[in-house]
Amino acid sequence: MKLTKNVGIPVIAVILIISFNNVRPGEAATVSGSSQNVIWYFFKMKFWTFWFNSDAEISEIDVQISASKSECVKGLVSKNNKKIIYLPTRVYEKFPNLIGYEIKNGVVKTIEYKHFEKLTELQLIDLFDNYISTISNDAFKDLTKLKSLNLADNVLKSIDRYTFDSVKNLRNLYLHKNQIKSVSIYAFDFLTELRNISLSNNKLESWNGDYLSENKKLEYIWLESNKIKDLNPTSFDGKSNLKYIDLQNNQCIDNFYYTASFSSMKEKIQASCQ
Ligand SMILES: *[C@@H]1O[C@H](CO)[C@@H](O)[C@H](O)[C@H]1NC(C)=O
Repeated sequence: MKLTKNVGIPVIAVILIISFNNVRPGEAATVSGSSQNVIWYFFKMKFWTFWFNSDAEISEIDVQISASKSECVKGLVSKNNKKIIYLPTRVYEKFPNLIGYEIKNGVVKTIEYKHFEKLTELQLIDLFDNYISTISNDAFKDLTKLKSLNLADNVLKSIDRYTFDSVKNLRNLYLHKNQIKSVSIYAFDFLTELRNISLSNNKLESWNGDYLSENKKLEYIWLESNKIKDLNPTSFDGKSNLKYIDLQNNQCIDNFYYTASFSSMKEKIQASCQ
């Protein structure tokens, strides 16, 4: 079914109402088509989700989603589609109220400002298992409500100073399973609401005492399976909610710590990591 610009909005509106009544969570509701993507609307997690099906393809830069504007679509999802090479641009024009954004198990390589531009309601971005190697400094600039950012299982080599400056409400930052060797000591400074950070399975060789110094609300820190050979434990000071630090499988220390044993943590780290 091909929709022209003029009839698109009423047709989609009717489809949404009909499907809403018939659809159970997680079930494909209905499909509307276009020359570029076949679009599935899903009723998922209590909100309407725009679902790229496995034929959807974005093999050129600056491609926009061809759908009618909808204020009730709150999720955008693609899983295991190896033809989405670029993220769509100007998504805000179609789905201004997007809350969740998941493009997982794909082949996306870069993230830029135009991909998340003006998506001010976004709370969750999940780009797990792609080939992301570059993130521009302003990529997340508009995302002041973002709570969870998953960039795990990509090929990032470093984390720069400005990448996370605007996502001030972030609670969870997942960066495990990359190739991260260097992290700016300022990289996480503005993430004062952060609860969880994972940097496990990377190539970190040292852990500076200034990392995470501003993240006082941290609860879980995963640093296992790196190559850390010197580690300054002052990095974990002043965090009264800290519950767990995992340092297993590094060069100088082979331990994980729950709150109960934090007192002995510093001594053990100092003994083995200098
Ligand atoms: C942080 O991670 C822990 C352990 O996986 C989890 O129980 C908790 O809900 C996470 N916190 C947030 C804010 O999601």
